[in-house]
Amino acid sequence: MINSEINAFALQNKNIVVTGATSGIGKQIAILCSKLGASLILLGRNEERLNETMKELQTPENHLAYKIDINDYDAIADIVKDAVAKKGKLHGLVNCAGVSPTMPFRTTSVTKMEEVFKTNVIAAMNLTKLVCKPANMVNDGGSVVFVASVMGTVGEVGKSLYGMSKGALVAGVKSMAIEYAPKNIRFNTISPGVVVTPMSMSSEYSKDPDKLDFVTKLHPLGLGVPQDIAQATTFLLSGASRWITGVDLKIDGGYTAK
Ligand SMILES: NC(=O)c1ccc[n+]([C@@H]2O[C@H](COP(=O)([O-])OP(=O)(O)OC[C@H]3O[C@@H](n4cnc5c(N)ncnc54)[C@H](OP(=O)(O)O)[C@@H]3O)[C@@H](O)[C@H]2O)c1
Repeated sequence: MINSEINAFALQNKNIVVTGATSGIGKQIAILCSKLGASLILLGRNEERLNETMKELQTPENHLAYKIDINDYDAIADIVKDAVAKKGKLHGLVNCAGVSPTMPFRTTSVTKMEEVFKTNVIAAMNLTKLVCKPANMVNDGGSVVFVASVMGTVGEVGKSLYGMSKGALVAGVKSMAIEYAPKNIRFNTISPGVVVTPMSMSSEYSKDPDKLDFVTKLHPLGLGVPQDIAQATTFLLSGASRWITGVDLKIDGGYTAK
């Protein structure tokens, strides 16, 4: 009994696609999924960093890696087809790839809006549509996780465009959850606060100790690390969360508790 309850958290023999697997949160999600027994299909633009992630996975020979820009829709369709042909049907998808612009709303051009929405929203939704086709996904408990952000719910100066794109994910999964429930596919977002990764550490505030201190203090439990997000993601991918769908899980060290 206890074993079956613990096993609900395992990802044994599950085929899971992870985007943004070359860096930060996505890389840590891939590593933890592999430790829990999953077979990974990693997507990333940088071949060298993709190989570095591959080396850190448990049993590297169990996994596939594809060098791809998620905005390349034709190539993405071919990759999903190829992965399913090699591994069998998919059990999970983590949409983690993303960009995080910081700019005043008044300087945000239409071109920039299109660029950010393409990567953060449209490319993720396009991949999700492909993965969730009956020919590609199992029909006994698929799970899709989008890495959104607390900026999808609350605001900060300069984060309007980023927040809009992440808010679109938070809103979108609720209807997707309902639409795909009869197919037993679950959809959830995870909304992190500031997590220490190359993305957050290249932000303007990280270069100024006073600003970094201010941002850190916005999180009652301090800044997060990629493992904090990876652990919640593997829970949402696993059978232990079989009754959770359409939810936005905030993992933010208390940022939005105030
Ligand atoms: N760090 C935080 O504080 C924080 C907070 C809330 C939410 N998030 C979200 O968490 C996710 C991961 O962020 P991170 O902090 O781990 O950042 P990161 O270390 O900069 O990683 C971003 C990842 O996205 C990939 N990516 C971006 N555009 C892509 C594209 N067009 N095609 C394929 N891959 C693309 C990058 O691939 P390349 O290696 O090819 O560049 C990289 O693997 C993002 O969606 C971000 O918005 C982060």
